[in-house]
Amino acid sequence: MSKLGRQSVLGEASTGYNFDHMYVKKAEGYYGVGKIIDYFLLRLPAVKATQSRKQNILRIVGEKIRQRKNEGKTMRIIDVACGAGRYLAELEAIFNQDGIEIIGVDYDNKSLELGRSIAKAYEISETRLRFFKGNVFRLGHLKKFGNKIDWRPHIIIASGLIEYLEDDKVRDAFRQIYEGLDDEGLFLFVNQQNNPSKKLMEKVCTTREGAWILHYRLPNILQTWLIAAGFKNININTDQWGMYNLFTVRK
Ligand SMILES: C[S@@+](CC[C@H](N)C(=O)[O-])C[C@H]1O[C@@H](n2cnc3c(N)ncnc32)[C@H](O)[C@@H]1O
Repeated sequence: MSKLGRQSVLGEASTGYNFDHMYVKKAEGYYGVGKIIDYFLLRLPAVKATQSRKQNILRIVGEKIRQRKNEGKTMRIIDVACGAGRYLAELEAIFNQDGIEIIGVDYDNKSLELGRSIAKAYEISETRLRFFKGNVFRLGHLKKFGNKIDWRPHIIIASGLIEYLEDDKVRDAFRQIYEGLDDEGLFLFVNQQNNPSKKLMEKVCTTREGAWILHYRLPNILQTWLIAAGFKNININTDQWGMYNLFTVRK
């Protein structure tokens, strides 16, 4: 009966719009009881850690944008698997859409539609925050597009992506992201090393592909793959719940 509970058990657990509901943190559900359940689900430690991950992205990317703006330069950002991209719209809003160009890519229509409506609510121009429908593993297309319009990102963000991928896909993504980044560009991504609600999630939550089973990884294995892909200056921050590691690495 709760919005988060319902979406999570009916195959929408990993969608961008389900995550956006966690960020908005406003209890919704059927009848009063659904709303009450939603209120408590939105306060589970795993949900708090997810809300905090979004705030950390905002803080770190915000700092980088500020530094670049001080040098009088525009910051170009791509978010792969952006979902509804609420933090992207908030970044644009914080900087009054000045000195930032953002592209969000996701393959889910409903999340992209929500993303566009969030951007509209903030009155953000479509030239500042563009949403593209696409599979991040066909980013070759994006690279060609980038070359064509001479648009290479200074930052690539991947939040809520790699825990869904098999090892070889993660290594492949790292290589593609390295190639796609501008020289000295920054790759910011989030790894999930554990989850306080892991057992519950595996039992009751489902995605379009079936049970919500994630690939939990310790940071050192990712570090090895990042180095193999060519990245340097690897920085890792683990949250207070021991759930997410936020990586920032340089090309
Ligand atoms: C857990 S959500 C994360 C959304 C957002 N990045 C965040 O941190 O809130 C995962 C998103 O990844 C998208 N996704 C997963 N695999 C993808 C792929 N291969 N190409 C494009 N989008 C993908 C899903 O549609 C979903 O919106």
